[in-house]
Amino acid sequence: MSSPGLGSEGTERGVTLIGLDVGTSGVKAIAISHDGELIASATEEYQLSTPRPGWAEQDPDDWWRAAKACLARLPEGEIGFSGQMHGLVVLDGAGAVLRPAILWNDQRTEAECAEIEALVGLNRLIELTGNRALTGFTAPKLLWLRKHEPENYERIHHVLLPKDYVRFRLTGEHAIDVADASGTLLFDVAGRCWSREICDILEIPLAWLPEAYESTAIAGAGDQAAAALGVGIVEPGLVSVVLGTSGVVFAVLPRYHPDEHARVHVFCHAAPGRWHAMGVMLSAAGSLSWLRGVLDTDHATLDAEAERWEPGVEDLLFAPYLAGERTPYADASARGAFTGLSIRHDRGALGRAVLEGVAYGLRDSLELLSELGVHARAGRISGGGARSELWTRIVASVLGVPLERTESEEGSAFGAALLAGVRAGVFADVEEAIARCVRVRSIIEPDAKWQASYEAGYARYRQLYPTLRALQAPSE
Ligand code: XUL
Repeated sequence: MSSPGLGSEGTERGVTLIGLDVGTSGVKAIAISHDGELIASATEEYQLSTPRPGWAEQDPDDWWRAAKACLARLPEGEIGFSGQMHGLVVLDGAGAVLRPAILWNDQRTEAECAEIEALVGLNRLIELTGNRALTGFTAPKLLWLRKHEPENYERIHHVLLPKDYVRFRLTGEHAIDVADASGTLLFDVAGRCWSREICDILEIPLAWLPEAYESTAIAGAGDQAAAALGVGIVEPGLVSVVLGTSGVVFAVLPRYHPDEHARVHVFCHAAPGRWHAMGVMLSAAGSLSWLRGVLDTDHATLDAEAERWEPGVEDLLFAPYLAGERTPYADASARGAFTGLSIRHDRGALGRAVLEGVAYGLRDSLELLSELGVHARAGRISGGGARSELWTRIVASVLGVPLERTESEEGSAFGAALLAGVRAGVFADVEEAIARCVRVRSIIEPDAKWQASYEAGYARYRQLYPTLRALQAPSE
């Protein structure tokens, strides 16, 4: 769609391309030229509310206010949308929001996940949706609402995901793309349409769900598919590595091919006729932000102090499960830890252990993807954490693949702008958009001197979760 005031010019080939990303910490909007040059950008932040342990909510009005403020600072143009996935926004018949949105990193739905897997049958669920029921996904949240807030549930007329709520406020349209719809657990991921079978079993009216389109037709995608497009990933061979609040390793699949145990997510990609598999860590740059907050310092200081330590940080390990974990454990009650602390360890040591712990978590996802047949010759890195040279070098060394940085550092917002270009007819397809706009700026090779230490560190890291699991309170 075109930004306000653009009118029919929105389909002209001279139009500016806007990418609007509705993230967890804020909205980012960018304007780019048809060669992918950044013309302007704007960001607006907002808060995450955690009214109870394990809960994560936001007010959809905050997204809307932030989006409007960002768009007001950009030139007019054709808008593509990306956003945090899985979040549940429920509207009444008049389009009013019924309660705060329940987000992707909310963990309240363990009971509902078990219920869905029992009702649908785990094998059938995986066959149809490519996934098992995970606490962050959308369908379990609807079941939770039905049980715990029947007064809200009974008033639902429309269900939307975060970025699609912003589109709705801008245009009045109820719509979603196949990539984001894949994360609802109500979608037939092979057929690229809503699953009547799942909706019937879960007794969720199909009429609540927005019309689903290919990403190129609606100019929208969940943030991970958009980030992958934004760094040029539409074919197998390269993986997208994202160091955002969440941490992701994402690979394109040549055909729909779910993992038989659904240890990684399998979703529609934002390119028609393509799917992808990905492992998702819930706290990647989120772990670093937590540490920075607790130590009351800034990222640059922590990074500089972390750099003074040798890899392995004298056996200090960090388990990044601060908000539970999805890949590889699918355990909402998992919790983080530092192990191996000594009196020599200082602030920089804690910082480096966090960078390494997150890198090991990404390696878990890459290992699972390779069991699915993914061969990664290189990764393309994006997300806020990718700005750290040190972290990128650690991740390259732990994953054992070179990591490429693209000229644009705008990740999902850049992918959304490319989709806007395809929809507006500026580019014939996503391949052309990528060929014209995505350029590799630098390559960070694995550090041969660090790799031996990281192989040993990873072997020890693999033992952390089972050990911590045994220490969890019995009620969990
Ligand atoms: C993906 C996921 C997260 C959010 C973060 O499955 O839950 O990456 O999309 O924005």
